[in-house]
Amino acid sequence: MSERPNIAIIGAGLMGHGIAQVFARAGSRVRVYDAFPASLDSLHARIESNLRDLEDPVDCLSLVSGHADLGEALLGAAFVFECAPEKLEIKQAIFADLERLAPPDAVLASNTSVMPIGSIVGGMRTRARMLGTHWWNPPFLVPLVEVVGTPDTELRYIEATMALLTRAGKTPVRVMKDVAGFVGNRLQHALWREAIALVAEGICDARTVDTVVKASFGRRLAVLGPLENADLVGTELTLDIHRTVIPCLDRTPGPNPYLEGLIADGKLGVKSGEGFRTWTTEEAQDLRKRVFTYLRKLNAAERAEGAASGDQEIST
Ligand SMILES: NC(=O)c1ccc[n+]([C@@H]2O[C@H](COP(=O)([O-])OP(=O)(O)OC[C@H]3O[C@@H](n4cnc5c(N)ncnc54)[C@H](O)[C@@H]3O)[C@@H](O)[C@H]2O)c1
Repeated sequence: MSERPNIAIIGAGLMGHGIAQVFARAGSRVRVYDAFPASLDSLHARIESNLRDLEDPVDCLSLVSGHADLGEALLGAAFVFECAPEKLEIKQAIFADLERLAPPDAVLASNTSVMPIGSIVGGMRTRARMLGTHWWNPPFLVPLVEVVGTPDTELRYIEATMALLTRAGKTPVRVMKDVAGFVGNRLQHALWREAIALVAEGICDARTVDTVVKASFGRRLAVLGPLENADLVGTELTLDIHRTVIPCLDRTPGPNPYLEGLIADGKLGVKSGEGFRTWTTEEAQDLRKRVFTYLRKLNAAERAEGAASGDQEIST
């Protein structure tokens, strides 16, 4: 396997353009396909804007090209990352095309947020090379990629994908079972479920939920995972706490009716000016900028610490 294998990205949206940027920065030739030409027209400008914000060199842009023809985008690809909308029928149709048009040994990966990979690739002939790579937004700032095989995925494809991601400066982890939500989104949405229930039950308002997380355990999460934390306080204390609190946690089966009510009322979040909270255009811009700046500083601090200790696990 080449050190800088050719990459194809399917879908030039939020995730697709960011993933293209990661591989171009790592020196790979990246061909990007999108079914809608408008996404391709802005591809270079969006990557260039990210690179300038990060104060990264922009010369890697010459390695990225946009293609309105799928077969052309797949030419010589060793890895294909599907980043199309989170709709099962769209992803199934794309994988059927990829199976037909991609080089026979290319790894075919879906960036689905939560769908079991088997639900997308079940029934395909060449399932051995199909897997999930779940990246996080923005892909060029968040290190983790969850790598998910189905029972039909051959280990060599999983290993090649983990090696590729590591070389590109990511932190890949292997998820051993092909379950909805993988690991990260199961954890994240367990928290969101309880956050929504606290508001729905009138225990506190949405702003308070966010303040509690950001001003308490959220501060530690980037350096202290939940199970490290449980070990730190001791498993007996964890058990005592769970005996009292676990029976009181939300058990609504399915989405909370409070969330469904927001959507029925046209409260779609930042894009409509109100969701759980209200947003002016400036507040929404500030929010995005705050996240970008924070992630950038965190990565720089971790790089500096890694360089000082010789530990370079997170390098993006
Ligand atoms: N946005 C996130 O934070 C995030 C994080 C992790 C994973 N994901 C997942 O990544 C995938 C892409 O999400 P996104 O946020 O980049 O979406 P997006 O809407 O920004 O981009 C999707 C792109 O796919 C294109 N497209 C639509 N139909 C297509 C087709 N048939 N073939 C090729 N391209 C097609 C669209 O034109 C668009 O450019 C989804 O599965 C999503 O759940 C998103």
